[in-house]
Amino acid sequence: MSVGIDEISFYTSNYFLDLRTLAEVQQIESDKYYTGIGQEKMSMAAPDEDVVTMAANAAQQVIDRVGVDCISSLLFATETGVDQSKAAGVYVHRLLGLNSNCRVVELKQACYSATAAIQMACALVARQPEKKVLVIASDIARYDLGTSGEATQGCGAVAMLISANPRLVEIDPEVGNHTEDVMDFWRPNYRATALVDGKYSTKIYLKSLKKAWENFVDASSVAFNDFSYFCYHLPFSRMAEKAHKHLAKINQAGLTLEQIEQQVEDTLHYNRIIGNSYTASMYIGLSSLLENCKHNLAGKKVGFFSYGSGCVSEFFSGTVVSGYDKCLHTLNHKQMLESRQEVSYDEYLKLCSYPDPRDGEHHDIPASTAGRYRLAAISGHKREYVVC
Ligand code: HMG
Repeated sequence: MSVGIDEISFYTSNYFLDLRTLAEVQQIESDKYYTGIGQEKMSMAAPDEDVVTMAANAAQQVIDRVGVDCISSLLFATETGVDQSKAAGVYVHRLLGLNSNCRVVELKQACYSATAAIQMACALVARQPEKKVLVIASDIARYDLGTSGEATQGCGAVAMLISANPRLVEIDPEVGNHTEDVMDFWRPNYRATALVDGKYSTKIYLKSLKKAWENFVDASSVAFNDFSYFCYHLPFSRMAEKAHKHLAKINQAGLTLEQIEQQVEDTLHYNRIIGNSYTASMYIGLSSLLENCKHNLAGKKVGFFSYGSGCVSEFFSGTVVSGYDKCLHTLNHKQMLESRQEVSYDEYLKLCSYPDPRDGEHHDIPASTAGRYRLAAISGHKREYVVC
């Protein structure tokens, strides 16, 4: 019996800022963003969107296809949670109409926690193969205006169903890990935006890749040249390109630059126009690969490098299942991305500074998301979610 990803679907906000607009305001060349960091647009969450509404929107297509009865657990990965105590997934549980005997928990370790959720889900399914686990990763990446991280903001959620004999990607049990207590990126409880030591974070990312890979090599018989494609955590797409060149060099892979680039380029299409979605980003990258690669991926080995600042990282492997292309949500994803609305710089500033009421009074939140689920009000310190 194999275990892995049976369904994958993602969601991002209907608003985006083109990084050319940001570059114009900052009076710098837009090539710094388009080429230098490899990003074109960044999704901006609407005032009535948060990790809960994005998660429910991402999972809806999975639920429409498989129903709710098979789902025994919902593991919710995020680093932009809405409550210190209650798991965001509990709201999603109600919005999606999951069964009352489905367990829900929230996991946190920066951008890495969706991978922890996937590994835990695989273990649960291996124990009880008739059960399926819904893993949702949902995040809103926000940095202060005028900081180096500003152009790498974004938002998105991805929902994956983990099952026995999956229809998309079988996940191998062997993994390589690297954990180290570093301060490359963090967000204290009292801050809405993250703090980052940008250049240092890219160095730690590359160091972790090497260490996690070495640990993977000790655990697995799969070698670098067995892989056809690689999905990396995607804070910005140039990071994945650099990381992959680094890994190819470590392995003295004997590939041309073009071959190395081809192993990651189809994972980057969505990230370039969504931006960083933290926990969701690598798996939106997997969607991008499955939905955009012109070659038949059936039987191909894919390497995954998941990185979460602070830091915890993991390298693992999977194999694409024959018939995967019949089980995707490509059309819905492409329509969602194409129908997004561009915002001006002033509108972007308004979205960044939308009030975050903390006084316990009743606050209605105007409707603006194009998604099915929205945050309609915050009242008495309680968040009120509705189905549109
Ligand atoms: P920066 O200092 O603004 O940019 O920030 P730069 O000056 O280093 O330029 C970036 C690249 O653009 C350079 O290329 C320039 O040469 C090039 P490189 O040397 O790197 O190859 N460039 C140009 N190219 C073409 N035409 C031009 C031009 N001008 C310059 N005209 C930095 C870059 C990544 C530091 C910044 O974006 C940042 O702080 N980002 C946030 C942190 C981040 O994303 N770190 C990634 C690793 S940590 C991680 O992935 C975890 C994370 O997702 C959080 C989590 O785990 O929760 C962040």
